Amino acid sequence: MNFAGKTAVSTGAASGMGLLFAQNFADLCGNVVLCDVNEEVLNEKVSEINAKGKGHAIGIRCDVRNYAQVCAAVEKAAEVFGSIDVMANFAGGAAIRMQKVDKEQYPEFPDVPIEVYDWGLDVNLKGPFYFAHAVLRQMRKQNSGLIINIGSIAGMEGDQYSMEYPTAKAGLMFGLTKSIAQFGSKYNIRCVCVSPGPVLTRENMANMRTLLGRAADPQEIIDLCLFIASEKGQFINGENIMIDGGRNAFNRG
Ligand SMILES: NC(=O)c1ccc[n+]([C@@H]2O[C@H](COP(=O)([O-])OP(=O)(O)OC[C@H]3O[C@@H](n4cnc5c(N)ncnc54)[C@H](O)[C@@H]3O)[C@@H](O)[C@H]2O)c1
Repeated sequence: MNFAGKTAVSTGAASGMGLLFAQNFADLCGNVVLCDVNEEVLNEKVSEINAKGKGHAIGIRCDVRNYAQVCAAVEKAAEVFGSIDVMANFAGGAAIRMQKVDKEQYPEFPDVPIEVYDWGLDVNLKGPFYFAHAVLRQMRKQNSGLIINIGSIAGMEGDQYSMEYPTAKAGLMFGLTKSIAQFGSKYNIRCVCVSPGPVLTRENMANMRTLLGRAADPQEIIDLCLFIASEKGQFINGENIMIDGGRNAFNRG
């Protein structure tokens, strides 16, 4: 695989899979635009990528919940690199964890402040929706592009505690991904959702069961994303792809 001359935007790129995707894309000679709210770490990671001397990286502080910031990030990426070939929406996570609600107490859904769920719905669903709106203007102009959404096994299973998370992820996995693919088809634009089961960006994910008896190495998820973006993956479109060690195939009876 080689992404020389191609540009990818990755959100949630200061850590975890968003960062790993950007690092891999740059290792394969592509340009990368790393977006995150954590500006300090972002700048460090951008410097590390550039120091390797393969693909070129820039970092943009962008809160995916803020449409003006999303538009500014897309405009900056296009201005610096001339095109946006891959838009990868990694920013996300369950609000109860990310907003540090006391998990020991396991508060019931109606007892968690609505603002916590607002945050989760906004980051996990509105963020990719905002990016789609902004980046499709650029991709339509180019007559090419790929949007990768990141779903979750939670979108298949539900979760009575982090209730906004499966709600938002299911919206991404099916409604948004298919709708973008429908719109994009006349402009040579694809949209694919990659939906992991447990991934070891967090240690406690090792406790989540799969048919294979283990969680994914983050690289396994990124390898699939890179394949979809590569020459070999060009016929994959409008689909949600589970990559979950068979967790979704569990006999739940
Ligand atoms: N780790 C798993 O087991 C797992 C499983 C299924 C799906 N996923 C999904 O994969 C994606 C990446 O997960 P991860 O574990 O690598 O993530 P992570 O927690 O390591 O990183 C998330 C990043 O998103 C950034 N972020 C948070 N709010 C933001 C905002 N408003 N705007 C911009 N950036 C923001 C954070 O600063 C952080 O750098 C997420 O969408 C997650 O829901 C993860």
